[in-house]
Formats: sequence, C-alpha cells, structure tokens
Amino acid sequence: MRLGYIVGSLSSTSINRKVADALVALAPEGVELVELDYSQLPVYSPDVDGDYPQAALDWKSAIEGVDGIVIVTPEYLRSVPGALKNAIDWASRPWGTNSFNGTPVAIAGASIGAIGTAAAQQHLRAILAHLNAPTLGQPEVFLQYRAGAWDAEGALIDEQVTAVLQGFLAATVAHVERYATVAA
Ligand SMILES: Cc1cc2nc3c(=O)[nH]c(=O)nc-3n(C[C@H](O)[C@H](O)[C@H](O)COP(=O)(O)O)c2cc1C
Repeated sequence: MRLGYIVGSLSSTSINRKVADALVALAPEGVELVELDYSQLPVYSPDVDGDYPQAALDWKSAIEGVDGIVIVTPEYLRSVPGALKNAIDWASRPWGTNSFNGTPVAIAGASIGAIGTAAAQQHLRAILAHLNAPTLGQPEVFLQYRAGAWDAEGALIDEQVTAVLQGFLAATVAHVERYATVAA
C-alpha cells in the first residue's frame, strides 16, 4: 500500500512535520509513506485553469498516484492553514479534474494549545467531503505538543503518543483497504 502524506505547515521547525516523520518511522510492514510536497505551488487563480503550471500538474499527479492520504496539519486561526487550503484548491481544479475524488484520507494534527487542532480538522473534513474524499472518522488525533516526547534527533520517544499514532495508522490502513474494495 502506498500512502501519501501532506504536512499542513511550511515551517522549518514544524511540530506537525515531527509527527509526520514519526508516522513514517512507525509505518507497518507493506505500507510505504511518501510525502506529497506542495511547497512550490504559487497562489491559485482560476486565470490559469486553461494553462496549469507544471508544479500544479505534478502536485495533482502525486495525489492521484497514491492509494490513500494522511494529512498532518496545524490549526491556524481555528481553521486550515492557508498554504494547505491553497494546495487543495489547486488539486480540485480545473473543474472536473478533482484529484481527491474517491481518495480515502486520514487526518491528524498537533498544536501547542490544549484543544489540539480540533477546529481545523473539522473544517478540513468539510472541504474533503465536498471533494468526495472519504475521511477516517476514528480515531481522531488531536495532539498537544510536548517537547519531551521527542529526543534531540527528533525521534518520538513517548510511549503513549507512539501507541496513539500506531492505532491511527492501523485504522488508516483499514480505511484505505475498505475503499479499495468498494472501488473494485
Ligand atoms: C497564523 C497562526 C495562527 C495560529 N492559530 C492557532 C489556532 O487557531 N489554534 C491553535 O491551537 N494554534 C494556533 N497557532 C499556533 C500553532 O499551533 C503553532 O504555531 C504550531 O507550532 C504550528 O504547527 P507547526 O509547528 O507544525 O507549524 C497558530 C499559529 C500561527 C502562526
């Protein structure tokens, strides 16, 4: 199974990238996690729908080339970070070529705040429902970041967080398998 993962932060010190790196390290046997990188995308405008830039075509192909997607995102202003929303806008167009169509997605997020990324994740679910991308309902993963959970090299060392992420990955694999069966 080939899963793509999207980090909803462009920060060089992103705590959500740390979570994504931990998911890559914890991937079960037979599951490959590859990054879907949107960092080179310009700001979307419908003006280019007739002549999509190569970066956007590559982004759409990358999404269409995986069996399922994991999005690990921070919350910005109680919603989805603008850069991530922009990347999803690109993937949804030109009209009639929605790259997320039918692709199962699982969502996780880390925040420094106590309620995690709950509000952002709800908004993201609404966006993905509109794009006909079925999202994993449970488990929901709202991590409150604690520096002590990671070692100096950035490896996850907290057993509780590790167990949460392993459970999330197992449910994600089952979710993707379910939709592969439905599609077949
Ligand atoms: C523009 C902006 C808006 C933010 N809004 C929220 C928010 O609504 N809720 C929240 O929990 N944290 C918010 N934060 C704090 C983020 O949780 C924190 O910066 C976190 O480290 C971002 O994730 P990252 O390290 O993966 O980039 C915000 C941060 C920024 C820069």
